Amino acid sequence: MKLSNFLEFARFGLKTILLGKKDPILGTVIVTDKCNLKCRHCSVNNITAVVHPYSQIKKEMEQLYKIGIRILFFCGGETFLWRDGDMTIRDLVCEAKKMGFLIVNVVTNGTFPIDLPEADLILLSLDGDRDRHNAVRGDTYDTIMENIRNATSDNICFYMAINQINKDSVREVCYAARDTKNVRAVSFNFHTPYPDTRQLALSKEDKIECCRVIEQMMKEKVPVFNLKSAFPYIINNSFPTPCHQCVVIENGKISVCGRCIDVPGLCEECGYFFVAEYTLLFRGNPRIIFGMLRTYLKYI
Ligand SMILES: C[S@@+](CC[C@H](N)C(=O)[O-])C[C@H]1O[C@@H](n2cnc3c(N)ncnc32)[C@H](O)[C@@H]1O
Ligand code: SF4
Ligand code: SF4
Repeated sequence: MKLSNFLEFARFGLKTILLGKKDPILGTVIVTDKCNLKCRHCSVNNITAVVHPYSQIKKEMEQLYKIGIRILFFCGGETFLWRDGDMTIRDLVCEAKKMGFLIVNVVTNGTFPIDLPEADLILLSLDGDRDRHNAVRGDTYDTIMENIRNATSDNICFYMAINQINKDSVREVCYAARDTKNVRAVSFNFHTPYPDTRQLALSKEDKIECCRVIEQMMKEKVPVFNLKSAFPYIINNSFPTPCHQCVVIENGKISVCGRCIDVPGLCEECGYFFVAEYTLLFRGNPRIIFGMLRTYLKYI
């Protein structure tokens, strides 16, 4: 990370912690909810299947920049399905960088060829070893691995949503992150149980076991892009919610934290590690601050 970016984030962090501010810094633009997959754990695909036009996405990016967002994510649906004429997700990333966003990340299912060197991180969903991943995401594992091998840059970070189907393959995803060319790290979430996927929720004991394995992987120097110090809060769902420093914009509607904020009771069962990490960070938890500095400086 550039020193100037680091200093801007440090200034934001200090202002938020010392003055108790609630300004946002991290924003996500949903470019479409259209998707080529229908994963077992996902409740947000193909609800409208509209691909939002460039003019709208650009306006939404400007809106986020104006309210102070400097870390931008593009998400979906499937981001690599986004098109407007000849323009692709790569044009959106370049536009975001030109606008002044300091970190620009893209979340993808990895089933399309990957040519996105301008992104800081490509969060690529891998949900287990071949069998478990395919059980969650259909027969896509081999295509994804082929796309990763042929990617034009090494800015890929695996993104695993751990649930009842794949909870026993955390280790395999860690080793794949360590051993696969073009992959820099792995980042985890626990399943967030929307009403239609409650059966995939993890118990507290499941979460304890997963965190134990992830900690062991960290000890083995597997590159894990999460904070060990947040695990107890994640296991107990005792972190503050929602995250006021994060916003999502979808089709002109801004939500604090996530689209899921409208689902009654869901925040109490939130499985998104970033929510725990950011809310604890901005409450000034010293172990989280130290862990965040170490982790972010290593992988971005
Ligand atoms: C909604 S997808 C959109 C981007 C892209 N289609 C993909 O699969 O990466 C973004 C991420 O959310 C994860 N996800 C979906 N539903 C979830 C849930 N209920 N709890 C936790 N993570 C979830 C997916 O596994 C994926 O990593
Ligand atoms: S690929 Fe992503 S958006 Fe599509 S169904 Fe799977 S998790 Fe949902
Ligand atoms: S805290 Fe609530 S709004 Fe935020 S990601 Fe979790 S469930 Fe969604």
